[in-house]
Amino acid sequence: MKQSYTFPENFLWGAATSAYQVEGSPLADGAGASIWQRFAHTPGRMHDGDTGDVACDHYRRYRDDIALMGELGLKAYRFSIAWARVLPEGKDRVNAAGLDFYERLVDTLLEHGIEPMATLYHWDLPAALDDRGGWLNPDVASWFADYAQTMFRRLDGRVKLWATLNEPWVVTDGGYLQGALAPGHRNRFEAPIATHNLLRAHGMAVRAYRAAGKHRIGLVVNLEPKYPASQSPEDVAATARADAYMNRQYLDPVLLGRYPAELTEIFGEAWPQRPEEDYLLIREPLDFLGINYYTRNVTRYDPDAWPLRASGVRQRQATYTETGWEVFPQGLTDILIWVKDRFGNPPVYITENGAAFYDPPAVAGERLSDPLRVDYLRRHLCAVADAIKAGCDLRGYFAWSFLDNLEWSLGFSKRFGIVHVDFETQRRTPKASARYYSGVIATNGSKLDNLE
Ligand code: BGC
Repeated sequence: MKQSYTFPENFLWGAATSAYQVEGSPLADGAGASIWQRFAHTPGRMHDGDTGDVACDHYRRYRDDIALMGELGLKAYRFSIAWARVLPEGKDRVNAAGLDFYERLVDTLLEHGIEPMATLYHWDLPAALDDRGGWLNPDVASWFADYAQTMFRRLDGRVKLWATLNEPWVVTDGGYLQGALAPGHRNRFEAPIATHNLLRAHGMAVRAYRAAGKHRIGLVVNLEPKYPASQSPEDVAATARADAYMNRQYLDPVLLGRYPAELTEIFGEAWPQRPEEDYLLIREPLDFLGINYYTRNVTRYDPDAWPLRASGVRQRQATYTETGWEVFPQGLTDILIWVKDRFGNPPVYITENGAAFYDPPAVAGERLSDPLRVDYLRRHLCAVADAIKAGCDLRGYFAWSFLDNLEWSLGFSKRFGIVHVDFETQRRTPKASARYYSGVIATNGSKLDNLE
């Protein structure tokens, strides 16, 4: 039976991208290199040697892209600012052309009635700062706050939603512990240091915002609920470690003022004590939380899995995406209710949700159908509606991603877009998922089940 769903009035329906994944022209107009520019040009790091040199050419095509967002009826666009476009050396000298680009982007969005949400850091640290130790150098917190301040001064009149960091967990896990992402380190001692400096940087930027900004600022985390594979004490303990590592490592210090105890167990002697005053900084009150949700994990004890001694169990009856992630919409409802109960029901935006599936090539003039992605979106939006019904304070939803783009070290091999990009010609073709989402927006989510 078709149900009717209720979303709050003014619910913000949007789509998201990030700078290095879509912009291209990473060194144009005086920009400095980022760690991703460097990483992508290091042989062996990227799938097929792909780079962000051109990506979706959004840096030059942003006007057309925004016009397309307008046609689809998007109410909001979440983008990120490339720090090294604005400050080529990461600090001190401002590159006016870089700032101008983001100003034009924001003004064009506003001309189309699309609300901008700006993320200050989506993984592309200026390479010059990496040369000084990057996230391992405690000074990075004030470098980040100074950069944030520059952005607030220029754009806070027009950008009303700011996010400090995107997924700090991925920054440390991928960048400093497992090494699959820039800067590609694999070091148990570095990861806890990077974690803490990311959180201090976040806190200092929020403080700077309280002094200079008039609107709202939050943090974006990726959450993945962990369910024990069995009730054995080993599996249950492994699940708690996995949950602490991924879901509580950042939220607990930011919202409760402490790290989860399991981190000491996971990192052992590599997990340091921190000065008490750091927690006050990290705990600066936020206006909202951004949550990125893709999948869940069924967890079991695995003595060989470093450093968590926990690994995921593949589910027999499930659908998996092209990135190998189980489609599990219930996990989104569960994690939203967990956030509500654990952290006192903060205002939440789903800042990313989406899936990579194989798409056929786009043929000019023909419709492109992506039934698995339509189904993914529909079921996850129903899961959001369920969380709202359960009392979660949800303010908006951003599909990941507006465009097919550079999926980091997986290059262009995975397509997450609701709009297809032909990387040879840069032609954009809205997929059926974009048309479906457009219908959702036009009816404020009331007809999730009976569109296309
Ligand atoms: C990131 C995106 C990424 C997406 C899909 C998130 O972790 O914020 O940049 O493309 O997931 O992997």
